[in-house]
Amino acid sequence: MNKKIIEVIEGKSFKIPPLWMMRQAGRYLPEYKATRKQAGSFLDLCYNPELAYEVTMQPIERFQFDAAILFSDILVVCDALGQSLKFEEGRGPVLEPVNVSDIAKLSTAGVMNHLAPVIETVSKLHNGLDKDITLLGFCGAPWTVATYMIAGHGTPDQAPARIFAHEHPEAFQALLDVLCEASIEYLIAQLDAGADAVQIFDSWASVLDEDQFEKWCIAPVRKITDGIRAKRPNAKIIGFPKGIGSFYKGYATKTGVNMIGLDWTVPLKDAKALQNEVPIQGNLDPLRLIIGGKALDEGVDMVLENLGDGPLVFNLGHGITPQTPIEHVEQMIKRVRKD
Ligand code: CP3
Repeated sequence: MNKKIIEVIEGKSFKIPPLWMMRQAGRYLPEYKATRKQAGSFLDLCYNPELAYEVTMQPIERFQFDAAILFSDILVVCDALGQSLKFEEGRGPVLEPVNVSDIAKLSTAGVMNHLAPVIETVSKLHNGLDKDITLLGFCGAPWTVATYMIAGHGTPDQAPARIFAHEHPEAFQALLDVLCEASIEYLIAQLDAGADAVQIFDSWASVLDEDQFEKWCIAPVRKITDGIRAKRPNAKIIGFPKGIGSFYKGYATKTGVNMIGLDWTVPLKDAKALQNEVPIQGNLDPLRLIIGGKALDEGVDMVLENLGDGPLVFNLGHGITPQTPIEHVEQMIKRVRKD
């Protein structure tokens, strides 16, 4: 058994880095669209272990990626906490926004029962995947999940959550605490079901000032890594705090994650300096994958030239977009693997 991504997390470098893509199961694949249609709603797909298994495996079968990432969504935790959630075509997630009194009533008691089908998907993947492919579980970081719970939908700057957090600091802290508690249980269950590592997505970490970032991004992620390691000391945890610029430095030490995912705006010389601190995952601009051609080749080469000598998992700097041509994904993989 030789799971390259786990070896990178442990500090090893490879001549050809292992690779996977954030959002690798998704709408750019016709086979995903077909299964998604069969499932009914997006949430039905997340809670159907047979179909969620199938869509997780689709990009593995097509591209032989080095990791499979559990098919689910960071927002299933909100649903499990009892907040109403649906995904609307063309609009994304729509939730009933939480207020101070809703937060006071939140309880993690039913969460794992509700998420049992997702854990069943992890078990099926653990049994079905080739033993040299890394199985990744995940959750959203409390801050990022809270932004959706408060606004009720995606926003460009997360203003509703930022304002709420200052107007109702105690309720906001209580919300982060509930999300930490639920995330610890949820990630431990994923690890126990066979996930080799888990990734914590903090996709909206970029909108905070230094003080807020420490309180709402660093502290909760630290609480989660400590909570997991209190019970599973060897747990491998990847952090993806998107867009945090100079806050990347020290992030791994402060939060306790074993590897960090970088977005594409991080200058590669800074990424190289970070790689002396911690293994790196990233960071091709996903739009280069839409453009293809020379822009794509150059993007891949820049990442490999700057980070290829150290512990690197090749990935995108954020999720692949639905309009990406499949041939461009093939071109990227060939270039990374030097086929
Ligand atoms: O392949 C994988 O990466 C695993 C599955 C996965 C999904 N979402 C499936 C999905 C993962 C890891 C996520 C994480 C996620 N979900 C994040 C963090 C990563 C990021 O992209 O920043 C966030 C913020 C969400 C919340 C979310 N889910 C939004 C805002 C949306 C709507 C936007 C969009 O891309 O449609 C979703 C829906 C979603 N999650 C889809 C998929 C495949 C598309 C829904 C569909 O098929 O109709």
